[in-house]
Amino acid sequence: MSTQQFLENLKLRRSIYSLGKDVTLSKEDIVDLIEGVVKESPTAFNSQTQRVVILFGQDHEKLWDITAEALKPLTPAEAYPNTLKKLDSFKAGFGTVLFFEDHDVVKNLQEQFTLYADNFPVWSEQASGLTTENVWVSLSIAGLGANLQHYNPVIDEAVAKEWNTPANWKLRSQLVFGSVQAEAPEKEYMDDADRFKVFG
Ligand SMILES: Cc1cc2nc3c(=O)[nH]c(=O)nc-3n(C[C@H](O)[C@H](O)[C@H](O)COP(=O)(O)O)c2cc1C
Repeated sequence: MSTQQFLENLKLRRSIYSLGKDVTLSKEDIVDLIEGVVKESPTAFNSQTQRVVILFGQDHEKLWDITAEALKPLTPAEAYPNTLKKLDSFKAGFGTVLFFEDHDVVKNLQEQFTLYADNFPVWSEQASGLTTENVWVSLSIAGLGANLQHYNPVIDEAVAKEWNTPANWKLRSQLVFGSVQAEAPEKEYMDDADRFKVFG
């Protein structure tokens, strides 16, 4: 792959909010892709703190029902219909990837390497970010649309109960994916001059 193609692939990844279930790729292929990408994403000290749950079908839809339930008491009644509309747009997708961090691993690292103790949670978070980005890009290359959500910590307890995830797995984000029903609007970029400095 040329560097130009790499950049084109990065540009393919956008926040796609209009998602559908018209996906030709098999669930097995999607799972293989996500697992491969997560495994190849770097982590501090190769600590591999990322944990991932992939939801399809009724499990995917259940996540967004759980979110609706959890948000109901926290949302003003007049705003709730809009919340439901938004959650329905996620439900309309084909699946959701739940990204977690294993905080037992982070804690062990903090105890083992006291000099870097403050850094390990930050590095784990950074690894979560770049793992998520890699998965997002790879799904886009596979022709799928996706958008990134953060209903943690509101849904943490219900998610752990429903999918029996260990207490040390801390939910960090939800990447919803599916067929692209409408493209993202053109993206705006800040001035390069305000962003980059090159010397020498
Ligand atoms: C760390 C991070 C957190 C984000 N959180 C959310 C979110 O909670 N909800 C959402 O709809 N989009 C979220 N996004 C998506 C951004 O709004 C989006 O990537 C940005 O506006 C650029 O648009 P693009 O993804 O189409 O390039 C998040 C993106 C990042 C990198």
